[in-house]
Amino acid sequence: MKVELQNITKTFGQAIANDGVSLTVEAGSIHGLLGENGAGKSTLVKILSGFISRDEGLLLLDGKPVVVKTPEAAIAAGIGMLHQDPLDFPPLSVLDNFMVGKQSRRWLVSPREAARQFQELSTQFGFNLPLRETLGNLTVGERQQIEILRLISLGVNTLILDEPTTGVSASQKEALFAAAKKLAAAGKSVIFVSHKLEDVDLLCDRVTVMRQGRVVGSAEIPCPASQLVSLMFEKELAAPHKPAMTASSQTPVGLSLKNILVKDDRLEVSIPNLEIYQGEIIGLAGLEGSGQRLFTLLCAGLRSATAGQVEIQGVDLTHRPYRYYLRQGVGYLPADRLAEGLVRELSIQDHVTLRQGKDQFFINGRAMLQQTQAAISFFNIRGKPNSKVERLSGGNQQRTQLALLPKTLNLLLMEHPTRGLDIESSLWVWQQLVARCETGTTIIFTSADLDEIMQYSDRILVFSGGKVSAPIPVREITALQLGEAIGGKI
Ligand SMILES: Nc1ncnc2c1ncn2[C@@H]1O[C@H](COP(=O)(O)OP(=O)(O)O)[C@@H](O)[C@H]1O
Ligand SMILES: [Mg+2]
Repeated sequence: MKVELQNITKTFGQAIANDGVSLTVEAGSIHGLLGENGAGKSTLVKILSGFISRDEGLLLLDGKPVVVKTPEAAIAAGIGMLHQDPLDFPPLSVLDNFMVGKQSRRWLVSPREAARQFQELSTQFGFNLPLRETLGNLTVGERQQIEILRLISLGVNTLILDEPTTGVSASQKEALFAAAKKLAAAGKSVIFVSHKLEDVDLLCDRVTVMRQGRVVGSAEIPCPASQLVSLMFEKELAAPHKPAMTASSQTPVGLSLKNILVKDDRLEVSIPNLEIYQGEIIGLAGLEGSGQRLFTLLCAGLRSATAGQVEIQGVDLTHRPYRYYLRQGVGYLPADRLAEGLVRELSIQDHVTLRQGKDQFFINGRAMLQQTQAAISFFNIRGKPNSKVERLSGGNQQRTQLALLPKTLNLLLMEHPTRGLDIESSLWVWQQLVARCETGTTIIFTSADLDEIMQYSDRILVFSGGKVSAPIPVREITALQLGEAIGGKI
């Protein structure tokens, strides 16, 4: 079945998630939808699969206009989607999950018949799944496999996979890709949503690239990585430039790393000697999962080095617990504000109280309220002291996180400091950050936005598969060269 989306537009409040997007997926092909986080990929495929409604635009299946208002309607029309966050039922068994949706079809399917179908499809796709196990005990990769089998058994002939390789093992990824290829060979289509170039390159026949809610290009695979990277990252808007700092031998060192080796179960990052100055801004560039996070966690004191030494303003903190880093003036704002930085169900005032009251037995409610109100007005947070942080917009969550940071810091680490924020909030965030640098704080930030890296960094570290470049002064590199370095040409 040929799938065409024409001129799809979708807004969420102020944010334009899809802005006149058109996409054609030919039957029997694997079509990549590539773009950085926030590009609008999930929104587009959720519209295609009936999970959200579009504001404008048209869906054509084999040339005929079709309206799908619900996921069930989409499945009936042949379109099924494997979500970025699984929508299955962990307390139920594998078989029960497999049977979801069958009852609402024209005829009822008995568990025995369902089990038979399940085994047949599993064998066909080379999956090995325990039928009676509780789903919650399985890995993410296995749960994906079950969902794929379920969608196929419901007659889906266009399968959407939204960021399916996050959190699955290498062998599960292989099984997934093999299954996708089998589907395409059988004449079905696969839409593969990803921000990972190498996965798109491995799997897809064609790719469409999205940036900031729009389609910015498409290409046949294979296609040079640098071309895709520049499509993913380039921006028309250039914002004002922060004057680059010129360090001399007199400039005091903020962070010093000596022959570091740091690893997790997937990646090993080694960093030769590295000195970062007080007041300096360092941008960490690279595709997601290339080692930036390990580097950040190491500097935050949240992960210990296997070898080497970490010094912050001359104090050796190697293998010290996190609280020593806090005491030494290290601040860390994680990427996922609601998963790590803030507590979903708590209010802004609760957060202010938690931060202040950690060493106190009694909490002065009135003083906390006043402090919260002061923070809300200074940081221009659109919310009330009793607003739960999960109800705030991304920009206001980020403002809240910034409000909670200690007034003075030696080292501030941030992941995607402006991701999902509107332009005004982004500029505001950077004003706060630049002001901190002027008082000597060293800032290290990760960003998927090359313009942001080029604009605010004094020096850049490029990460690629755990390899780290030497620090590159921003004056000595162009955005295009940086894009190429990210694609693996360090
Ligand atoms: N339910 C929602 N409410 C508000 N904003 C949303 C919602 N879903 C997506 N957005 C916004 O739309 C933009 C595109 O998001 P998304 O489609 O999830 O991008 P991607 O999948 O490419 O990372 C982002 O700015 C995001 O914050
Ligand atoms: Mg997404």
